[in-house]
Amino acid sequence: AQLAPEPGPLKGRHILVTSGPTREPIDPVRYIANHSSGKQGHAIAAAAAAAGARVTLVSGPVRLDDPDGVDVVHIETAREMLAACEAALPADAAVFAAAVADWRVARDAGQKIKKTGDGPPALALVENPDILATISRSISRPPLVIGFAAETEHVLDHAKAKLKRKGCDLIVANDVSPESGVMGGERNRVHLVSAAGVESWPDLSKDEVARRLVARIAAQLGEGA
Ligand code: CTP
Ligand code: CA
Repeated sequence: AQLAPEPGPLKGRHILVTSGPTREPIDPVRYIANHSSGKQGHAIAAAAAAAGARVTLVSGPVRLDDPDGVDVVHIETAREMLAACEAALPADAAVFAAAVADWRVARDAGQKIKKTGDGPPALALVENPDILATISRSISRPPLVIGFAAETEHVLDHAKAKLKRKGCDLIVANDVSPESGVMGGERNRVHLVSAAGVESWPDLSKDEVARRLVARIAAQLGEGA
């Protein structure tokens, strides 16, 4: 007979994770996106599942397999990501690792935009909803809300400002400047910014960052976060 697996530290918990970029259409053949690989967000979803949680992963387009044992909702745009997150609630904790496109084109052209000979089209942009801030301030706010701050300079200052502005409990801040190799790479060097202060972790694999973050989530939920 097979032994039942040890109940994990997140058994009975529901964890929501966002991951990857979003893709905002300009016309039927073009879009706005970013370099997010989804590796860190997917690793967090996988680690939470390995810790026994029920996991909903809302992911933009990435070149990664769906993690085992995770409910994956595939979306493209920021507005679809927000709707999928809201539909996934309630959750015990939410981790917003996605690199959401800040802007979308005000009006989807409907048909392919053609060169006219009069120069390039002016693309009017509008701001996308802030998914983290929206859910962090919603009536169905998970007890533990974790955001990311991908910065290319002044990492800690920007992260502290985001912690306040978005109303979350923890910001995982990292340097994503091209020299860091974080975007698309396998490693990450993060700083945990909370009301309690800043905790800097060493350079780790994204899988190890995910495991440590999941251990932190389990500890905080255990304390009745
Ligand atoms: N985020 C989000 N929805 C958005 C933009 C960001 O949920 N429309 C989340 C990200 O998933 C991340 C956190 O907010 O957890 C910070 O994202 P970031 O892009 O660093 O912050 P912004 O507020 O967009 O500020 P800026 O890009 O100007 O630094
Ligand atoms: Ca942004």
